[in-house]
Amino acid sequence: MIDPFGRKVSYLRVSVTDRCDLRCVYCMAEDMTFLPKAEVLSLEELDRLCGAFIKLGVDRIRLTGGEPLVRKNVISLFRSLGARLGAGGLRELTTTTNGTQLVRMAGDLHDAGVRRINVSLDTLDPGTFAAITRWGKLEPTLDGIFAAKAAGLAVKINAVAMKGVNEDEFDRMIAWCGEHGFDLCLIETMPLGEITGDRNDQYLPLSGVRSRLRQNWTLDDTDYTTGGPARYYTVRETGRRIGFITPLTHNFCESCNRVRVTCTGTLFMCLGQDDAADLRRPLRDETLDAGGLEQAILEAISRKPKGHDFVIDRNRKQPAVARHMSV
Ligand code: GTP
Ligand code: 5AD
Ligand code: SF4
Repeated sequence: MIDPFGRKVSYLRVSVTDRCDLRCVYCMAEDMTFLPKAEVLSLEELDRLCGAFIKLGVDRIRLTGGEPLVRKNVISLFRSLGARLGAGGLRELTTTTNGTQLVRMAGDLHDAGVRRINVSLDTLDPGTFAAITRWGKLEPTLDGIFAAKAAGLAVKINAVAMKGVNEDEFDRMIAWCGEHGFDLCLIETMPLGEITGDRNDQYLPLSGVRSRLRQNWTLDDTDYTTGGPARYYTVRETGRRIGFITPLTHNFCESCNRVRVTCTGTLFMCLGQDDAADLRRPLRDETLDAGGLEQAILEAISRKPKGHDFVIDRNRKQPAVARHMSV
């Protein structure tokens, strides 16, 4: 699948649920209304949908949410997708999780063929963790991360950088990740979905953070890439990587390789744009064969936009994109 700007689309992010057991302040409003079950694709439908993308050339799939691991029986989807690894056309199956269910599920994920995961962890301080997630406890996530490591999964820690909240913690997090063998990714907050507070207040440009970190750490350039939005360096003192995801200060859209589909089967060609295609209709239409679904996907890819147009604008109270990251 090649888009109008010559970019090969080979990476699919699939949100398997809009639900989450936490309510991170930058991600969700305190009081969320979740989708009724009938609108959400079944695990069988999600598997069939992924199969169509794989047939069209997607070779990496990341299951996301909401919190993917709170979806009932989601491991069966990991297993069916895992069976497509290798000769089935899939090169990598991964997930992004808040970690709370990993003690229970890390071994099963590894058995299903998952080899690396990204875990959202914005702070190592229990009080700050509770403030960011509204009611979360740090311990289950930390236990989950160590369970994942013990199960043989490579772990990358994702931390959304927030002014006045966790900005003083990055040195400690680099050291902690180095000590335990995890990569770390710092992320600029993106204006997605209505939240309870004001995003602009917490926006922290990572260009300044990187310069500050360079006073304590040697950041060596590296060509390493996952094909994703992060720009990586190796921290010489720890030997682990640190990535910076900077949609606002450094746009990476020109090398974008991905599209995302929500748990209702809506395909978004760009995280930062509203144009979408409904894949649930062709998925559920019994008069169509698999060709109908593939046709709908190809037609959507032919409309993939050049990039997002996120801006942090103090006078703009509406988010750039109305939907939350979690759908
Ligand atoms: P890998 O590169 O495969 O490790 O994953 P990733 O970093 O793309 O995935 P992850 O789910 O850990 O996402 C980390 C951050 O990157 C999140 O804030 C995502 O929303 C953001 N992100 C992922 N893909 C895109 C994208 O296409 N555009 C933008 N602007 N942000 C993205
Ligand atoms: N901006 C940046 N990152 C976000 N995440 C969730 N919402 C936002 C946002 N508005 C992060 C989570 C998780 C990853 C999938 O996206 O912390 O690590
Ligand atoms: Fe849940 Fe992740 Fe959103 Fe936090 S960022 S509320 S853990 S989906």
